[in-house]
Amino acid sequence: MSSAWSWYIIIGTVLTMLACFWLIVWTNRQRQSDADIKESESHVWDENIRELNNPLPMWWLGLYVISIVFSVGYLVVYPGLGNFEGTAAWTQEGQYEREVQRAEERYGPIFARYGSMAAHELIGDPQAMRIGQSLYANYCAQCHGSTAQGARGFPNLTDGAWLYGGSPEAIELSILNGRMGIMPALGAALGGESEIDAMVAYVQSLPDGQDTASPAHMKFVTFCSACHGADGRGNQALGAPSLVDDNWLYGSSAAEIRKGIVEGRNGVMPAHEALIGRDRARILSAYVYGLGQSGAE
Ligand code: HEC
Ligand code: HEC
Repeated sequence: MSSAWSWYIIIGTVLTMLACFWLIVWTNRQRQSDADIKESESHVWDENIRELNNPLPMWWLGLYVISIVFSVGYLVVYPGLGNFEGTAAWTQEGQYEREVQRAEERYGPIFARYGSMAAHELIGDPQAMRIGQSLYANYCAQCHGSTAQGARGFPNLTDGAWLYGGSPEAIELSILNGRMGIMPALGAALGGESEIDAMVAYVQSLPDGQDTASPAHMKFVTFCSACHGADGRGNQALGAPSLVDDNWLYGSSAAEIRKGIVEGRNGVMPAHEALIGRDRARILSAYVYGLGQSGAE
């Protein structure tokens, strides 16, 4: 805040408080007994309702004074008067950091214990799995969905089909370091529109078995097999999905497959190590591994 604004706020606040104080003093000065009130100063309505200019009751005034005193004390201790920081040096950030630190002291040892356990032990630990579930809801659900079934472009973590591998170790690496799927745009390389259409049809037919006689098959071997494998079963080292199963990251429609071939695809799983640390990542990898196990049944 610039110092002009700061002074604007300080002066405005102090003047308002002084005005409030003056108001009390002023109304109190006129305190009179009923007898002092002259008949001529009162208004009479409906024959017997008298409107008098009485001061405020004492208890009400007392509250008024207390709140003014309180606000003076508050503005001395806490920030409120422009740029003045208050004698307690309280800040939102400081309070937040203290709370985070307290939570870290409380939960850190629990996480550290789990962080040193192997995934298969963690899966058998109901408390660890409950923690895993809430970590998942906090950090992962916005992309992979609240039931971990994913969405277009965000892989399903329950179906037993993995881009990068479904072992607890592979899952932990996905979480810690992130992943980046790189499918280059290959529309131009394939030739013309009709070659692209043929390739789309070929990819769609892959789950039913490879048609090795198709001209698209030759192009597939040339342009696609380096990543997706000669048999189309994918390559987990590159995150290239299997094209022969019925799991589709982007959908099985001709339009989606065509878009992927022409424009390329670039799914990004952000690295989480800095955000959640290794112990939480270990718990999450066990939790996600457990989801894959139940999904594969
Ligand atoms: C910003 C969105 C986003 C967030 C947040 C996110 N993910 Fe991902 N995740 C992705 C995308 C996109 C991919 C696929 C990357 C690709 O296409 O190569 C992915 C891939 C993965 C994979 C690899 C899946 C496979 O088939 O091999 C795992 C495991 C995973 N995420 C787990 C998690 C967990 C656990 C969390 C929470 C800590 C999380 N993700 C948070 C977007 C996200
Ligand atoms: C350089 C490696 C590479 C090459 C070459 C490549 N792909 Fe891919 N492809 C990938 C990766 C990685 C993904 C996953 C993209 C992501 O995670 O966002 C992918 C995704 C796809 C998908 C989407 C699958 C789904 O589940 O939705 C299709 C379809 C596809 N590729 C077809 C092809 C075809 C056809 C060719 C050859 C013309 C080809 N790819 C060449 C790496 C490659």
